[in-house]
Amino acid sequence: MTKKWWMESVGYQIYPKSFFDTNYDGIGDINGIIQKLEYLSSLGVNLIWICPFYDSPMDDHGYDVRNFFDIAKEFGTMDDVKRLIEKAHGLGIKIILDYVLNHTSDEHPWFIESRKSKDNPYRDYYIWHEGKLQEGKKIEPTNWGSFFGGSCWKHDELTDSYYMKIFSDKMPDLNWQNEKVRNEMINVGQKWLDLGIDGFRLDAVSHLDRSEFVDIINAPDRYPLDWHRFSNLPKVHDYLKELNKKLFSKSDCLTIGEVGGEASIESGLKYAAFEANELSMVFNFDHNWCNNIYEVLSTKKLKTNLLCLKKALNKWQIAFKDKGWVPLNWLNHDQPRLMSQYGNHQYPLASGKMLATVLHMMRGTPFIYQGEEIGMTNFLFDDVSQFKDISSVNAYHRYLLDDSDPVKALKKAAIRSRDNPRTPMQWSASYYAGFSVVNPWMPINYNYKKINVEKNIKHKNSLWYHYQKLIELRRFSEYHDVITYGNYEMIDDNDEYLFNYLRYNHNQKLLVLNSFASQRIEYDLSSFKIMKKVIGNYKKQSIKNGKIKLKPFESIVFELKEEL
Ligand code: GLC
Ligand code: CA
Repeated sequence: MTKKWWMESVGYQIYPKSFFDTNYDGIGDINGIIQKLEYLSSLGVNLIWICPFYDSPMDDHGYDVRNFFDIAKEFGTMDDVKRLIEKAHGLGIKIILDYVLNHTSDEHPWFIESRKSKDNPYRDYYIWHEGKLQEGKKIEPTNWGSFFGGSCWKHDELTDSYYMKIFSDKMPDLNWQNEKVRNEMINVGQKWLDLGIDGFRLDAVSHLDRSEFVDIINAPDRYPLDWHRFSNLPKVHDYLKELNKKLFSKSDCLTIGEVGGEASIESGLKYAAFEANELSMVFNFDHNWCNNIYEVLSTKKLKTNLLCLKKALNKWQIAFKDKGWVPLNWLNHDQPRLMSQYGNHQYPLASGKMLATVLHMMRGTPFIYQGEEIGMTNFLFDDVSQFKDISSVNAYHRYLLDDSDPVKALKKAAIRSRDNPRTPMQWSASYYAGFSVVNPWMPINYNYKKINVEKNIKHKNSLWYHYQKLIELRRFSEYHDVITYGNYEMIDDNDEYLFNYLRYNHNQKLLVLNSFASQRIEYDLSSFKIMKKVIGNYKKQSIKNGKIKLKPFESIVFELKEEL
């Protein structure tokens, strides 16, 4: 295996709109990222992924790009981006940006041209289709649903045809079969690499190919969402091999694909095995929903399905063992907050630290999502107007149709809402959580006085310092090699409360114990030769007669004596 810089990195994901506002308009900006680089450096991260800040009408908060070569006014200027790259590099922090390949905004000049007429030179930049005649009426070419709800086709009056859009109406899908589109997008990537960025997170990359346009039969809804129609299809791999050859392989850049659509291990390897010559790694979502999320509404209890979670994380560790590399991220800007998803509200500190340990001691490149390091939580939405995410608004209206109770519909939409992770970063207990000095674009979480960066940094026992210590262990300690490159082996596979594993190389061995139980659990250590404790979330351990009594959500890493 060839070692790469990104295997030794610890990443941090920034959602710029909600990170830090420096010009008092209530919207986070590039200058805000610049000002917080020292903060990130003190946490220990040396890689940041920044969500889109390109010029955009913001239908999907920047994922709908109007101009790939310009910066949205609310975020700043190209000069700010240059300063950002320079300062980050000066601190030893690399930067990757979103590479949005699947679609553009409907306000992008290519689309404005494309819709004008059927023989416009840009027509084939997008996926156009005639409507289908049904009972004398023209309807969508297929009944396929989109990710954000409704049909994945949108009628356009100008030419009386439909364009495909698997996200929002304002995000027409690019036609990757068209070589011109591929060349344009390679050009986009090249320009950004030339500017000095270190790689890309490839947005929605599994969707660049479409299956034949035939209806989904026996559909339960008018527009059923069947990911298989536009996810992980064969031509995606041709396109990525081409991008790799013409773009990625020419620099030492990092490429992480967002691979939704139930990517199997098999397809994950197609994208990111070392010899695939496509991507450095892929983000998958297998571990994101291992809990009884909708039962929270009735029982108020959130129980992690630990066997599901273990299986999901374990299988990627195993499959990529010698064949590739994986990112280690709990969640991102599209999922609920980690603490609300898998944490425990009675033991927030212990469970937060334990969750951090579970992931950061694995083999791969960790990514912390902004605010995770201080234990930020979901937002208690009490009005639909608080939703800023178009898919949450659509979900709310869908639920309202099922059951006309608006309170229930709001609660249901809120639980999975992509707005949960997008409330502003909680920097301090002062007004607007220190994020801005004016009312922000999105409500601040009510708990900001309790959960914020300033408070975390003041208390040595905080979650923040636990993250810092985990990063320090991985990047700079005597365990650097075993944590980064060592073998991984799960133990106690069928235990419903413990997530335990070993990490080892030729001269070091670590035992990682993590309890997901709120009661004490006894664990037999007699078969391990314990040398010392490396990190834990409780000061003292109770070990008697070779048995440890793990406290609620206790997590502990021991160095073991290597048996030769
Ligand atoms: C990805 C992004 C998400 C966005 C979508 C469309 O899934 O993570 O935020 O809405 O792609 O670009
Ligand atoms: Ca601002």
